[in-house]
Amino acid sequence: MKKGFLISFEGGEGCGKSTQIKKFVKYLEDNKFDFLCTREPGGTEVGEKIREILLMSKENLSSETEFLLFSASRRKLLEDVVCPALESGKIVVLDRFFDSSYTYQGYAGSLNLKDIKNITDFATSKLKPDLTILLDLPVEVGMSRKSKDEKLKNLDRIESKGTVYHENVRKGYLTLAKKNKKRIFVVDASQSVENVFEKIKNEFERRYKKTQN
Ligand code: TYD
Repeated sequence: MKKGFLISFEGGEGCGKSTQIKKFVKYLEDNKFDFLCTREPGGTEVGEKIREILLMSKENLSSETEFLLFSASRRKLLEDVVCPALESGKIVVLDRFFDSSYTYQGYAGSLNLKDIKNITDFATSKLKPDLTILLDLPVEVGMSRKSKDEKLKNLDRIESKGTVYHENVRKGYLTLAKKNKKRIFVVDASQSVENVFEKIKNEFERRYKKTQN
C-alpha cells in the first residue's frame, strides 16, 4: 500500500519547470522532508536509454511508437524507483508523468485518448499523483525563453515539432486541468520565479497536511 506523497510537475517548453523543481527540492531539503526526485522519460538505466531514443532518434517515430516507448520507461521507473519510495513513506517528486502522454501524444499527437488511458492504466497500475503542478505559459513566451538560452539552442526531436503542435500541448494541459480539478493545480508561469514558487509551496503544504491527518 502506498504511504508516501506523489507530486508531479508538468508544463510546455520553456515554462520554467526545471527551475521550479530545483527550488522545490531545495525547500524539501531545508525542511528535512524524506524525499526523492526523478524524471520521465528516464530515471533508470533502461529509462535513460529509452529517453535517448525518444529525444535524439534520427528516424521518424509515430505518436504510437513514441507513446509505447514513454510507457515502457514509465513502467520501469514506477517498478524500480517510485513505488518502493512511496511504500517507504517518501515524498516523490516526478518531473513529468502520464499527463505528458495525454497532451503530447494525445491532444497534440492525435492519438486516441481512450487508447492512451487503457495503456496508461496498464503501465501505471492506475497510480495517480496526489498533486500535479501545471505551469501554464503562452507558447510564444515559452519558445522565446528557450531560444534565448544558449544551452538549449539545439532543440531535441519533440521540441522541434513546431508552434501548432505546442499550442495543442498547452490546450491539452488546460483541458486535463478542467477534467481533474482536484488533482491538477494550475499556476500562471508568466509571473516571477519567486511568485510561482510561493504558489507551489503553499499548495503543496495545504495538500500534504491533509494526507498526514
Ligand atoms: P525534457 O528534456 O525532459 O524536456 P522538459 O525539460 O521540457 O521536461 O524532455 C522530455 C520531452 O518529452 C518533452 O518535450 C516532453 C516529452 N514527453 C512526451 O512527449 N510524452 C511523455 O509522456 C513524456 C513523459 C514526455
